[in-house]
Amino acid sequence: MQQQDEAHYVQHAAEGDIHILRLANPPVNTLRAALRAELVAGLNAAREAGAKAVVIVGTGRMFSAGAEMTEFGKPRVPPGLHDIAEEIARFPGPVVAGIHGGAYGGGLELALACHARVAAKGTKLALPEVKRGILPGGGGTQRMPRLIGPIPALRMIVSGEPVTAEEALKLGFVDEVAEGDIEAAAVAFARRALAEGHRFVLARDRTDKTAGADLAAFDAEVEALLRRSRGMLAPVNCAKSVRAALTEPFDQGLQTERALFNELVNSEQSLALRHIFFAEREAQKVPGVPPGTPTVKVAKAAVIGAGTMGGGIAMCFAAAGIPVTVVEADAEALQKGIERCAANWRRSRNAPPEEEIRRRLSLMTGTTDMAAVGDADLVIEAVFEDIGVKEKVFAELDRHARPGAILASNTSTLDIDRIARATRRPRDVLGMHFFSPANIMRLLEIVRGRETSPEAIATAMEVGKAIGKVPVVVGNCDGFVGNRMTGKRGPQIEKLLAEGCLPQDIDRVMESYGMAMGPLATGDLAGLDIGAAVRRARGTVAPIADALVAAGRYGQKTGKGWYRYDENRRRHPDPEVERIILETSQRLGITRRRISDEEILDRLLLPMVNEGARILEEGIATRASDIDVVFVHGFGWPAWRGGPMFWADRVGLKEVRDRLARYAAATNDPNLQPAPLIERLAAEGGSFAGLDRARSPAAAAG
Ligand code: NAI
Repeated sequence: MQQQDEAHYVQHAAEGDIHILRLANPPVNTLRAALRAELVAGLNAAREAGAKAVVIVGTGRMFSAGAEMTEFGKPRVPPGLHDIAEEIARFPGPVVAGIHGGAYGGGLELALACHARVAAKGTKLALPEVKRGILPGGGGTQRMPRLIGPIPALRMIVSGEPVTAEEALKLGFVDEVAEGDIEAAAVAFARRALAEGHRFVLARDRTDKTAGADLAAFDAEVEALLRRSRGMLAPVNCAKSVRAALTEPFDQGLQTERALFNELVNSEQSLALRHIFFAEREAQKVPGVPPGTPTVKVAKAAVIGAGTMGGGIAMCFAAAGIPVTVVEADAEALQKGIERCAANWRRSRNAPPEEEIRRRLSLMTGTTDMAAVGDADLVIEAVFEDIGVKEKVFAELDRHARPGAILASNTSTLDIDRIARATRRPRDVLGMHFFSPANIMRLLEIVRGRETSPEAIATAMEVGKAIGKVPVVVGNCDGFVGNRMTGKRGPQIEKLLAEGCLPQDIDRVMESYGMAMGPLATGDLAGLDIGAAVRRARGTVAPIADALVAAGRYGQKTGKGWYRYDENRRRHPDPEVERIILETSQRLGITRRRISDEEILDRLLLPMVNEGARILEEGIATRASDIDVVFVHGFGWPAWRGGPMFWADRVGLKEVRDRLARYAAATNDPNLQPAPLIERLAAEGGSFAGLDRARSPAAAAG
């Protein structure tokens, strides 16, 4: 095989009369404008050279991750995917996509525009645009239904979830699954097609899967799918666009797709989703922990404590195939803890097969002997939230853990530096703060102590990702980022209830904002006694919440909390709660009034944003966007709202400052006094995003 030219983003080669175009835009071959232009040029050149067939493949990790997201929202630079598709259609012979690794979004749309697709075993294929708040605007909504039928296409496009090459073959949008070198396989496929004189029909010319489609069945499926994405625009437009493939000729369908795409691309929701997409990547850049920082390979883990959190954490390791030793003080608690892991797997929504559950359980070893941590590379402590107990455990870990092992605490409130001082190796100690339920929630706050080494942080991040978490590095303070911010919301909830709200008003507003569950229903799930214990320890009061606990209303576990729960765990407003609230208002001399939904939303979000600003000032979070990642992955914040700091930027920090000052005066809550950072940014006309950009190493360098 011979290299013919030195094109930058597309390499052009030939094997006899079959030409090969290799996408070469590392690391993931995004379809930037220059690459698109070279692809058109390459197809042209192949045709002029008399090539009989063309094979398009990706170099490096994958075929293509799709559009270059940094080009979004900017003027479109031709040629676009449609022009490439035209060029493919104009080519006299077959154009075959050879796909390995992954083909996502525009990358898959490019492949769909080809005459045929050969995919390497295990390749992932997806149209994930919906997750960025848009739709596949490169013809994907028109070609996919023509290739695999309306309902399978609808499911792929509305969910954005990937399918494997093998599934794609069954669905019918991949023609062959190949083993070994993908380029060789695609060339062989093209050569066979030429020898057999096979005539391919392009997706745009096919009608066999869409003609006479049952529109009523399609609409019923749309309705069922959209029920799951309440409040989001993109899935609605995805469905409309796929429907156009059933009712309109191809070219008109492309125009419909374009119009529906344009409605989405500059929407608030798409901006928010793209913000979170970049924020997740940005959060992986940690000051003082450069890429290439050495890590400890975690071949074996240990968890101390088999309670609610310890069990969930051990489940994460076992599910990822990492052997984990579970150490308990109490033999009975140990047995119960491990049984609970098995039960949780069995009754989870996507329960793994029994064989897999047994494999996972075989990776978990329970013991009451602390010396068993000796062969672990990482130990995570999840014992009672008591500094004395934790200090004792860490002193013991210091004796038994191998030198160089990473020692982590799952504490939610305690001082990591103090815990580290219980050992003679504070450099190896940090916080790994999981969120409940630990086997499900994806957020992992990694708490950096004063002496924590870069290697320890890098190891925690690496292992966090290996067990499917989204790690965010935070500083050491009471509550870290997430709980510290939600903690400031509690007093406003009390005040809102006393001034005129009922629990269902507050939850309704937050749920229609998009939260999976309102704060009061969440409190019932976690247990109201826990909050009461924290308040007792801190010497603070919450008259209404305390009265509920005094009345034995601990939440779901006692069948009643902010709500009454029926036998199906469905919540219902409870007259007793209303009575307690009204009595409290009266006792405090407050005349109840009607409170608007806007005010409820403001008074719940503003205290969090204000605390977020203080967290930034103190350097507890590296960036405002890290805080948004914390809320999306740890607190059920809808990604399409972008997180609390993004919300504040969209409201505008001057307006945020004014509203904070107004509510601070009206509610006499010192927490609502605008944080100095908000004062400063508001005065400068700045934003949290602007602050992030100014602080980012790239901006400093460039
Ligand atoms: P838990 O009470 O369910 O479990 C603690 C377990 O540790 C018990 O089974 C106990 O027998 C065991 N234990 C106590 N001392 C021990 C020792 N010296 N050696 C070995 N095992 C010992 O508590 P939970 O809820 O799991 O909390 C554990 C930690 O996780 C706490 O630090 C808590 O603040 C933190 N956390 C809790 C969250 C939650 O939602 N429950 C969320 C995030 C962190």
